[in-house]
Amino acid sequence: MTLKQYAALVEEKLNELVPEEAQRTPSSGEIPWLLNNAMRYSLTAGGKRLRPSMLLAAADMLGVDRAEAMIPACALEMIHTYSLIHDDLPGMDNDSMRRGRPTNHVVFGEGQAILAGDGLLSLAFELMLENAMAYPAKAANHNAAAYEIALGAGVRGMVGGQCMDLYCERENIRDEKMLGYIHENKTARMLISPLRAAGRLAGLAEDSEEMQALTGYGVNFGLLFQAVDDILDVVGDQALVGKTLGKDAESGKLTFVTLYGLDGAREKANELKQRAQSHLSVFGEKGRFFETLLSDMADRAF
Ligand code: IPE
Ligand code: IPE
Ligand code: MG
Ligand code: MG
Ligand code: MG
Repeated sequence: MTLKQYAALVEEKLNELVPEEAQRTPSSGEIPWLLNNAMRYSLTAGGKRLRPSMLLAAADMLGVDRAEAMIPACALEMIHTYSLIHDDLPGMDNDSMRRGRPTNHVVFGEGQAILAGDGLLSLAFELMLENAMAYPAKAANHNAAAYEIALGAGVRGMVGGQCMDLYCERENIRDEKMLGYIHENKTARMLISPLRAAGRLAGLAEDSEEMQALTGYGVNFGLLFQAVDDILDVVGDQALVGKTLGKDAESGKLTFVTLYGLDGAREKANELKQRAQSHLSVFGEKGRFFETLLSDMADRAF
């Protein structure tokens, strides 16, 4: 299976989980159409579907039933989409373009965009808890997978990283250790969690060789991914990237490029790629998807 094929499965399931709603006064127990359609607007706007595809691919690699992994995968994409809606808000990166469309707050207004993000985050956990109840014999594995996703998304993960990202922008901080913290947390944690969540669904022990390899690959892959994002902000093609470019330098962000320059950032990206690659040997032939993914994401144009 390729990234495109996994992404198509995710696309179909997301459409089923959050279908378009017609405008009407909500009855008790219904999602208001406005909230639903604002969530759906960003959720179905395209995107690489990288995080859920990584979860599904790791589940396949580890022999987990794909049906069991589908809800955690879609939940991860909902959390990621919420993080993008909030990242673009005027109080954060103040961006008007995302996934090739006007950002959520441009279309629905700031208040509704905040709620669309809140809604996607809550819905993700609602669905994962419901899914865990559907597999009572494996509830412990499902809870552990949801825990990994919570850790990656939360105060010890993406939210923590976003906090320091804004802090360093405002205070104009240029510090290597801080850059490492920000990129590891705002981005890499949400790319480690799909792998570790799949590991948990498979019942892997923390100290198993596979879990350690998934984590090691995830950290380096995640840092590489953000390094490329930082590079694309400078040299990307806006029509392909689908978001406003040149914003990092303009707003004074601490990024791989603003700290090391373009060539320095490319060098770091290459080192991270080698490091990620070195963790794949444990999986042999089965790790092929993640080897291809590494090159595809290192060389990506969007
Ligand atoms: C964008 O993530 C935010 C970062 C962490 C760099 P993606 O580049 O995965 O965005 P989509 O999901 O494809 O839109
Ligand atoms: C994104 O970092 C991190 C998130 C948690 C969304 P950026 O602010 O660089 O992401 P883009 O470039 O807006 O997608
Ligand atoms: Mg940001
Ligand atoms: Mg941003
Ligand atoms: Mg960026």
